[in-house]
Amino acid sequence: MNVWDVREIHDPSQLEVILAEPAARLHAGGLIAFPTETVYGLGANAWDDTAARRIFRAKGRPADNPLIVHIADLDMLDGVILHPDKLPDGVERAMAAFWPGPLTFILPAHPRLAPAVRPGMTTVGVRMPNHPVARTLIRLANCPVAAPSANTSGKPSPTTAGDVLEDLNQQIDGVVDGGACPIGVESTVVAITDERAVIYRPGGITPEQLSAVLRQPVVLDPHLTQPTDAPMAPGMKYRHYAPAAQVHVWWGDVEAIRSAVSAFIRQHAGQRLAALVPHGWREVVEPLHPLVWEAPATEPYAAALSRRLYHQLRAFDHEGVHHILVVGVPPEGLGAAVMNRLQKASEGRLYRV
Ligand code: TXA
Ligand code: MG
Repeated sequence: MNVWDVREIHDPSQLEVILAEPAARLHAGGLIAFPTETVYGLGANAWDDTAARRIFRAKGRPADNPLIVHIADLDMLDGVILHPDKLPDGVERAMAAFWPGPLTFILPAHPRLAPAVRPGMTTVGVRMPNHPVARTLIRLANCPVAAPSANTSGKPSPTTAGDVLEDLNQQIDGVVDGGACPIGVESTVVAITDERAVIYRPGGITPEQLSAVLRQPVVLDPHLTQPTDAPMAPGMKYRHYAPAAQVHVWWGDVEAIRSAVSAFIRQHAGQRLAALVPHGWREVVEPLHPLVWEAPATEPYAAALSRRLYHQLRAFDHEGVHHILVVGVPPEGLGAAVMNRLQKASEGRLYRV
């Protein structure tokens, strides 16, 4: 097990020197975890079926759940998707606007891709991450890199190298430690045709941002609002992002949330409770200290909650907490992605008040 610590490396050529070894291992079939701007990914050479199959074993991932393929530049689309020079207009516009960034496109898969990457599918998810460590590593590996989130299936996604090691220490060849991920929730997964754009998974790029650059309507996969339908992204059907503790989420009117949270605390005296709350909520959750994460005053709550959510769910699990209380956000902008993950983590214990 190797850890390559690049947290303090800001010089690109020095970064290349350190990443040469993990990149060579990736190319040769190894499993290397690395930071992206969303969450840590567990990478393997996307052209190597043996390596790609190891990802599923390491994570305990259901074999029918396809992987996202990561590239460092547009030339790397060769051998990943069909006809990269003849993309639909909407795809080109969105790539120009949001790549590198937290947006994954569903496109026709190239036959050279390892079958395990796209089990039984004619399409593949592809993304160019906006993180210097990820981009440099992929470029040096000189192959497209299949990478799901680097967690055990079902657990919250990892946003630090420590989170990765907690789940996968024994299963992988190494991790590149680039510090905490700045966004903290996964990329938006979208399928764009000439008629419309369908969001399969809300994420770092919001529907509003997509609408602003596309000429066709942007709609949500009906599964996201009607959970009974089969989701278009196979990964969205599994129990996901869930800590061991029960998660409870309130959003809506601020005063109503305050009284609901206070009442919950009174009713569960004697149990171990923890909370994630906006700045200024200290006195509402006073009885729970120190098992409280209070957002900083310096940025919008949705962004702070997004960055910290997964890591904090893990941290509270270590404390043996029974219930985690979360003050949610309106499901708009980045809030749509955060509330989608909270919906899953809470297994539906999400209350609008
Ligand atoms: O931000 C991210 O996307 C992170 C980082 C590492 O890039 N990766 C990530 O991968 O979240 P993963 O495997 O945990 O989630 C991939 C999602 C799953 O819901 C999967 O079903 C969906 O994308 N997906 C992948 N390929 C697909 C395809 N061909 N058609 C439909 N959905 C697909
Ligand atoms: Mg995942």
